Amino acid sequence: MRVERYNYNSQLGEEWRAVVEQIGVMLTDGRYILTDEVRNFEMEFAAYLGAKHVRGVNSGTDALMIALLASGVKPGDEVITQANTFYATVAAIRLIRARPVLVDADESSYLIDERQIEAAITPQTRVLLPVHLYGKPTPMRGLLAMAGKYGLHVIEDACQAHGARIEGRPVGTFGTAGCFSFHPSKNLAAAGDAGAVVTDDAPLDESVRRHRELGQASQNRHILVGLNSKLDAIQALVLSKKLPRLDGWNLQRRRMAMCYRERLAGLPLDFQSTNRDEQHVYHLFQVRTACRDQLLAHLQAAGVDAVIRYPQPIHLQTAFADCGWRDGQFPVAERLSRELLSLPIRPDMPMCELDFVADQVRAFFRG
Ligand SMILES: Cc1ncc(COP(=O)(O)O)c(C=O)c1O
Repeated sequence: MRVERYNYNSQLGEEWRAVVEQIGVMLTDGRYILTDEVRNFEMEFAAYLGAKHVRGVNSGTDALMIALLASGVKPGDEVITQANTFYATVAAIRLIRARPVLVDADESSYLIDERQIEAAITPQTRVLLPVHLYGKPTPMRGLLAMAGKYGLHVIEDACQAHGARIEGRPVGTFGTAGCFSFHPSKNLAAAGDAGAVVTDDAPLDESVRRHRELGQASQNRHILVGLNSKLDAIQALVLSKKLPRLDGWNLQRRRMAMCYRERLAGLPLDFQSTNRDEQHVYHLFQVRTACRDQLLAHLQAAGVDAVIRYPQPIHLQTAFADCGWRDGQFPVAERLSRELLSLPIRPDMPMCELDFVADQVRAFFRG
């Protein structure tokens, strides 16, 4: 048996032929840029989140850059985020020439360690940028209180957490702005790169619009140096088709995660902690073990597409060598990078595949 990480085909559902037909009409009609398809998806996603404004952009990375720029972050300003995230969170900060300040991860939630944030705040800090990593919501109450105390923006990296909730409220709607990626691997996936910035703040939304549209206030009147980063019309159509199924897929992911936890109980493995008031959407299902590399080799030999997310913490990435971080500086992030393994989790995964993966993990520990 082979157990894959992705099954893009299954996400298209029964109606894929109708979607292809609609794309054909868009192509021949020349409906490419900021069309009704884009506006429709923005409105649908805003309604889904209960947010006032959504702007579609090229990618999650652009969403982060644009949200930071629109929040007034200037070169040299400091943005606090975590040492264990995907590279793009920190690249976005660097690309706008702001300064990323890292905080270590929490040992059991694998999210930013809230207790270490206050010590990282300086007079140059402008933004707290928590990441709802692997689909688990970062507890927002304490973070928002801290941001209020120091006059900071909170920009949520919700690129892995579409539909994750805290007390029923979707992540991405707690801070000044929320940033989403619709990369094909995500819980809500386009057929290519795509992203969005979400906010309830009308002036911020207008600034996001300008930053994604070449700084234009109106045609040929450019009032700031903006990016060209508009959600593609075909991607918007694909996203609109998939959005109504997102909650069902997330429910399925949660069920799968529960089954994994049951079937792997009693083994020398740890799992990402969960809170009663949250809905984790399991973009990734992580197991933690000191013999991670051997377990990965065992699973790959058995045909299981397990993967490491992420094998290198941010502070040890070559791209960020000039930030002056050093080996040993964020010990929890370093341990997680050595001990976490993502097991395949897909909404369409049949139980026999999950059983197979769980049996293989059990067989590994039996020796
Ligand atoms: C946590 C996180 N932040 C940012 C990004 C960047 O998104 P994109 O790949 O759409 O640029 C991703 C996804 O790839 C991500 O997982």
